[in-house]
Amino acid sequence: MRNVLITGANRGIGLELTRQYAHDGDAVLAFCRTPQSADALNALAHASNRRVTVHTMDVADERSIRTAAQAIGDRPIDILINNAGIKGGENQNIDAVDTADWIEAFTVMVIGPFRVIQAFLGNLRKAKNPKIMTITSQMGATTWPMGGSYTYASAKAAVNRVMIAVARDLEAEVTVNLIHPGWVRTDMGGPDADLTTEESAAGIRNVIASITKADNGKFYKWNGEIHPW
Ligand SMILES: NC(=O)c1ccc[n+]([C@@H]2O[C@H](COP(=O)([O-])OP(=O)(O)OC[C@H]3O[C@@H](n4cnc5c(N)ncnc54)[C@H](OP(=O)(O)O)[C@@H]3O)[C@@H](O)[C@H]2O)c1
Repeated sequence: MRNVLITGANRGIGLELTRQYAHDGDAVLAFCRTPQSADALNALAHASNRRVTVHTMDVADERSIRTAAQAIGDRPIDILINNAGIKGGENQNIDAVDTADWIEAFTVMVIGPFRVIQAFLGNLRKAKNPKIMTITSQMGATTWPMGGSYTYASAKAAVNRVMIAVARDLEAEVTVNLIHPGWVRTDMGGPDADLTTEESAAGIRNVIASITKADNGKFYKWNGEIHPW
């Protein structure tokens, strides 16, 4: 049985990844900001025969990340999925970008994933073939053809660059990759998006399963294609 750590596991893509990994027999360490109100995740954990355990972690809070890692102790982590994300504010037009929103986007989606990796590196090192997957977005690619979305797109671009460096630093020990999950029908993606969470999570899981050490540092799409940077 593998141990899979997922951040932002209480709704959206994170919840569906949790459901699918547990369904296939993996143990999922499902992290969220407020377990006491994570009804869908708690119901999943309750029905999972202890395969899903629910834990507290706010990825914007370094102390919360450290406390979460201490609670896990020296348990090996086979797969770490940096999933938690936010829109980065409602108004991201050129004439109205809020600085606090911008900082929060970087705190949650750039510094957060990096600190989560730092905190659980010892656990990853205890696994046989550990993998880190960070969920980014096509909007962080320089090939994204649209303007606007300043806070969100720049945070995803930054985390792409951070993960390239992490992939280099850890290449002897951990396989580190990025994935665009598709445009997915979640609170973030909205009701008109292309994919269901089931389709996106299944694609992400297939990509993670197929990755070898030779793929370290690559940027994927949910369907297994390589994403242009
Ligand atoms: N949906 C899409 O079309 C799409 C496209 C490209 C990329 N993505 C990326 O895919 C990932 C998942 O998105 P989603 O569509 O599933 O979004 P979602 O439904 O809005 O869920 C976001 C998740 O992130 C959690 N989160 C936010 N801030 C957090 C923090 N500080 N600490 C811990 N957890 C936090 C949320 O927890 P709370 O319930 O506590 O807020 C929630 O569980 C994100 O990284 C997103 O940027 C999504």
